[in-house]
Amino acid sequence: MTTKGFVSLVGSGPGDPELLTVKALRLLQHADVVVFDRLVSADILALIPHGVSQITVGKSPGNHCVPQDQINKIIVSLALSGRRVVRLKGGDPYIFGRGGEEALELRQHGIPFEVVPGVTAAAGCSSYAGIPLTHRGLNHGVRFITGHSQNDETLAPDWSKLADPDCTLVIYMGLANLQTICTELIHAGLSASTPAAAIHGGSTPRQHKVIATLADLADAVARADLQSPVTTIIGDVVTLSAQLDRFQGDSRLAEGVADYEPFSLARA
Ligand SMILES: C[S@@+](CC[C@H](N)C(=O)[O-])C[C@H]1O[C@@H](n2cnc3c(N)ncnc32)[C@H](O)[C@@H]1O
Repeated sequence: MTTKGFVSLVGSGPGDPELLTVKALRLLQHADVVVFDRLVSADILALIPHGVSQITVGKSPGNHCVPQDQINKIIVSLALSGRRVVRLKGGDPYIFGRGGEEALELRQHGIPFEVVPGVTAAAGCSSYAGIPLTHRGLNHGVRFITGHSQNDETLAPDWSKLADPDCTLVIYMGLANLQTICTELIHAGLSASTPAAAIHGGSTPRQHKVIATLADLADAVARADLQSPVTTIIGDVVTLSAQLDRFQGDSRLAEGVADYEPFSLARA
């Protein structure tokens, strides 16, 4: 009988390979097979040694993501065949990463596993954009929410609970619904002049930040043609970006929009 393998559900962080944990790197170097998502950066995949099998579940030939139950089956069958599997996910596996679902599936099959946290997009994007998610005197907390609705249903959180000027709001997967999110928050009582930021490709060479008021954010993002992945941060802490964004080129600020290349500047 084959001995069961082992699965490491590993967070790869938002893109900069130097944000990978030492543990994640060690596991990648000793894996038999790495099963990875669409948001894992090419720079991180380049750290996987030659000879280690790589399976992408981010896109199938038809350009669609592999359905979650299919991903579960792949991981389970690799582990049951005795492999050391690294299931590599963007950001942190347990924050909007469906890591919990995969862990439950492994548990159900009696497969031993571990979860290795990664830098989540909220932390990576905010740090690289000079936005402390909490700041004494500006807020009392931070809240991570999804801006994506399941099965194309209407996004319907309790907006009145989210419209809290004392709590920074970080929105994952909110690009498609950005206008709705901003409008609903304003209707629910958050000031239209609340500072807001949308960050594309945080911590990667493609990082691009748009800063505007809550009322103007969706238009500014459309003008800048930001594409997924985008993390949105709403709250007074966004104002600190003007002082704390070390990558910010002062000549590139126009209409509240800043565009810059962290990698080239950071490593110059
Ligand atoms: C399915 S969620 C995965 C989140 C991931 N597990 C994490 O902890 O960051 C995907 C969303 O994460 C955010 N995201 C991930 N990487 C990002 C990046 N480098 N820049 C901006 N947003 C990012 C975007 O909101 C994107 O739509």
